[in-house]
Amino acid sequence: MEKPPAPKDGILDIAPYVPGKATIEGVANPIKLSANENILGASEAAKAAYAAAVADLQKYPDPRATALRAAIAAKFDVQPERLIFGAGSDEVFLLLAQTFLEPGDNIVQGLNAFASFAIAAKACQAEVKTAKEKPFRLDADAMLAEVDERTRLVFLANPSNPGGAWMIGSEVARLHAALPSDVLLVIDGAYSEFCDDPQFDDGMALARDASNIVVTRTFSKLHGLASLRIGWGYGPATLISAIDRIRLPFNTGVPAQAAAIAALADGDFQQRSLDHVRRWRPWMAQQIGGLGLECPPTATNFVLINFPAESGKTAKDAEAYLASRGYLTRGLSNYDLPDTLRITIGLEEHNRAVVDLLREFVGG
Ligand SMILES: Cc1ncc(COP(=O)(O)O)c(C=O)c1O
Repeated sequence: MEKPPAPKDGILDIAPYVPGKATIEGVANPIKLSANENILGASEAAKAAYAAAVADLQKYPDPRATALRAAIAAKFDVQPERLIFGAGSDEVFLLLAQTFLEPGDNIVQGLNAFASFAIAAKACQAEVKTAKEKPFRLDADAMLAEVDERTRLVFLANPSNPGGAWMIGSEVARLHAALPSDVLLVIDGAYSEFCDDPQFDDGMALARDASNIVVTRTFSKLHGLASLRIGWGYGPATLISAIDRIRLPFNTGVPAQAAAIAALADGDFQQRSLDHVRRWRPWMAQQIGGLGLECPPTATNFVLINFPAESGKTAKDAEAYLASRGYLTRGLSNYDLPDTLRITIGLEEHNRAVVDLLREFVGG
């Protein structure tokens, strides 16, 4: 028998990514609170820019995303050549892994780390080392304890998903200072805008003078452009130039670049999105706490609910109950958090309905 092509070692050991559910059988328009999207939608200006891009669909995008690059450089006061763009920040993680990881190297990540880091590392036949943190905590010492001579990348999602935790600026600086200079610290700031702890820092200033930090950001969350797949990274010019060599030329599209520029300029939409999360996140936590459920603190656009074993109620049943009433939430079994349910902050009516349904669920 002829031998079929075989994926390289380790590829088939990668668990397929499980996205937040988008449909419920028998429910026409479920409310999706399962993927941490922006419940307010996207900026009208971004939508208009996207629509205008239809006039030139036959054209390839600008491979350097020059206009978007300039807009981000101006907004964050950074040098344009220190930026790299990807189809979501996900692609930036993959590019980082491909640039720095050889088989047998490793990455270090938090306990409840976003799945893409491990997928990117394993695609390069690297190992994934997970910090032995307390659940729902980010702990610099626990991360440092995992770093060894084969560590090339340390991924810190700050705030984290699905853990929801955040690391204050002084701890990030301490983590960075304790890393060997040839280990790259990746600070994934997908949710950084949502953190309102005054001690929090998004890492951009730390990265400015560091030779081993890349900060990644996305247009998927605050800006509500998840469907367009656009994100970016900021790092030392020499590293960015290396990473850019393996980036495929036309990885971000014209509509995405155009919408991102418009979104970045729409401060009003950003503020409304932040105000909304900052208003309803504590409300949800307080209401859920009032039901006798544990609600670990989060600095993101979602809340977490823990169902302790002794409660007799499970996250799985809660997810099913909410789904049966049209609300999609996210069970976290595949993140080793089988007792935890993640719920994106919804509109006021969604949040109130979810709390009412949880009250029924807990009482029933
Ligand atoms: C912690 C974290 N980082 C990065 C991403 C990826 O975002 P994107 O690829 O849409 O930019 C997500 C998406 O959910 C996330 O939760």
